[in-house]
Amino acid sequence: MVSLSSVKVDYVSSDGSKDRLLEWLDNYRAIIALPPVDIADPTSLRHEERKELRRRVAVSNFVHYRCLQSANEAAVLTLCHQAGLQNLHQRSAAKGLKRIQVSTGSNARYIPYTNSELNWHTDGYYFPVTHPIRAMLLHCVRPALQGGATELINHEIIYALLAQQNPDYVAALSQRDMMTIPANLDAPDGPRQAQSGPVFWQGPDRICMRYTTRRHNIQWREDSLSREAVEALRNILKQRSDLVFNRQLKPSEGVLSNNTPHRRESFQDSTEQNQGRLFYRGRFHDNIQIPS
Ligand SMILES: [Fe+2]
Repeated sequence: MVSLSSVKVDYVSSDGSKDRLLEWLDNYRAIIALPPVDIADPTSLRHEERKELRRRVAVSNFVHYRCLQSANEAAVLTLCHQAGLQNLHQRSAAKGLKRIQVSTGSNARYIPYTNSELNWHTDGYYFPVTHPIRAMLLHCVRPALQGGATELINHEIIYALLAQQNPDYVAALSQRDMMTIPANLDAPDGPRQAQSGPVFWQGPDRICMRYTTRRHNIQWREDSLSREAVEALRNILKQRSDLVFNRQLKPSEGVLSNNTPHRRESFQDSTEQNQGRLFYRGRFHDNIQIPS
């Protein structure tokens, strides 16, 4: 079993763990109900802005921000850099942030580039654990005409809830061959080999997670404990709406996340040219680290 960082370990291991976990959940619920952190200039974060971003990430593993003036791609990328996110995923490095919008071209067969719902997943869940996506950015340039809400949930809270329910569940979900994604030679980011790995593992300073709700083309370990553990995880995602951040991100708003599970509601786009939902997406190999 992996362990939570020293700050959070008491939530799941000591006699007082129940109270500590409840306290953490209370803090977390309070933070995800707050308005976004206002950022005056995304290319130059102020001390107070950094402090508030850091405070929220420490509890939630993600943070909702709002740029007070419209921010172009370069400004958003500079914001990411100031949050410690320097290493964009290699395949997108040459192109900067990805533009996520409904496509009529070759990308149209991939769900992110349609107006369909995207169910719970972490980004790059099909990447090797040796080179994982540790953080991601979603920045709204233009929202959908209707729908398209963004949802996130703190994966370390999922871990703590599962550990409290049954420590064997987190042990099962930490097995090296828990989830296997078959090879896809035709993937939008380029061909990839089959990848086996855990759902949870210990990163440099926090627990990491790779996960997808999709059932098609995913091979889970088939022993009964593993099946039960996956079901328990699915139930948390299905039932704990009180722990889910859910917002219609407005123009110039975004989320920075330690690649926590997230999903997207289906949406209806504008029929006018160049007025459809447009988000920038960044995938990074670093954790969020916001200096004081
Ligand atoms: Fe995603």
